Amino acid sequence: MLSSLPSPRATFSAVAAMLVFAPAFSHAQHAVRDLASVLAVQEEMVTFRALVKRFPDVFSGFPKEGVTIIAPNDFAFSKVGNWGHKTTEATEAALKYHVITTPINTGSIGKGNSMIAATTLTDPAFTNVTGGQQLILTKQPGGEVVLTSGFATRGTIVVEDIAFDGGIVQIVDSVMRVPETLESTARNAYTDLTAFLGALHRTHIADEILTAKDVTILAPRNAAFQQLAGVLSHTTPSDLRRILHYHIVPDLVLHSWELQNGSFLVSAEQSRTMEITRLGNYIFVNSAQFLQTDILLSNGLVQMVDNILSPDHTDARPDITATAQLPVLTPSGATATGTKAPIPFTSDLPCTSDCPETETFDAKAPRPTGAPASPPTPDSAPSRNSGLVGIGLGVCLAAGALVVGI
Ligand SMILES: *[C@@H]1O[C@H](CO)[C@@H](O)[C@H](O)[C@H]1NC(C)=O
Ligand SMILES: *[C@@H]1O[C@H](CO)[C@@H](O)[C@H](O)[C@H]1NC(C)=O
Repeated sequence: MLSSLPSPRATFSAVAAMLVFAPAFSHAQHAVRDLASVLAVQEEMVTFRALVKRFPDVFSGFPKEGVTIIAPNDFAFSKVGNWGHKTTEATEAALKYHVITTPINTGSIGKGNSMIAATTLTDPAFTNVTGGQQLILTKQPGGEVVLTSGFATRGTIVVEDIAFDGGIVQIVDSVMRVPETLESTARNAYTDLTAFLGALHRTHIADEILTAKDVTILAPRNAAFQQLAGVLSHTTPSDLRRILHYHIVPDLVLHSWELQNGSFLVSAEQSRTMEITRLGNYIFVNSAQFLQTDILLSNGLVQMVDNILSPDHTDARPDITATAQLPVLTPSGATATGTKAPIPFTSDLPCTSDCPETETFDAKAPRPTGAPASPPTPDSAPSRNSGLVGIGLGVCLAAGALVVGI
């Protein structure tokens, strides 16, 4: 009986043990503090801390499994001067885009790999992607994790894997931008897609895309349209519609890393298919090469390709010996072709309020002179430029000058 009583020495040991473990215990407590406390000890987080306080609903009520908070630092906010001028709804939507619905540890992403992360932004006024608008996380070969959002806005995680009681915080050096429509993305960020956008307007497919959910769009760059300016000028409206529909994969958001060699995509043009070919780091759809991958849209994504696809050439495959692929449509006609040709279809872009009302396109107007009628050559220098070049007014004014009879 006596032996079951703790001896003074045993009691001392227990106290000592508590003292020894006390710091470790309180350290564990730190690891599960709430979001505000976790952010309070991080430097350069003044703006985000204030937003967390101002929008408590965005930053609470998380699922048991936890979320990932993408927390931009003050430097990130300093790069986007007008951020505070958004409406309350837009600010709330933008913040929801910074909350990933699952806890993601940077260690779980393999080097060189990309993954999609769904966010809590599900409001159809801001997104038409099933399951929540997405961010792309990519671990660079060097180990740093880069996030990609709308308008090619990227940020690097600068403080990784901070635990809080609702999951994980990742501090980034850029504010993530909610992906926008194809219209806005082509006009404001990826201006190399304006011919494609204009062609979609010409054929009224632009409206179909605007209301679609979960689409993948294979969008040829402007040079592909310039190269075929001659043949496109003789293409009937119904053939042009067929061609453009063949560039749309409905009901699937297909990220580049998910596209398997030899797999087929089903297009909106009578379900005609396209085949994916992977050769080293290059990806082809039929014989067109991917130039810019995974451009996020409010309702899916765009893969920018170097040539126009044709529903009548579904068997076109890349010539692996060539530095650039030839168009599947045969260039023809007297219209200027090549990179010096005016960019087709830009006159079909609806003008914004800045546009001069008087600019109307006269199909019988003489074509611009000075553009050589030399045979087209494949543009062997793919444009890598995707800079955030605002065009807006520029495109509308240029449309008057660049008009070509197509
Ligand atoms: C989502 O789709 C609806 C129509 O289905 C449309 O009215 C809305 O503008 C779309 N939202 C975005 C962000 O594109
Ligand atoms: C993809 O398939 C083609 C044709 O079968 C083959 O030549 C090529 O090596 C494959 N690429 C990869 C990355 O396996």
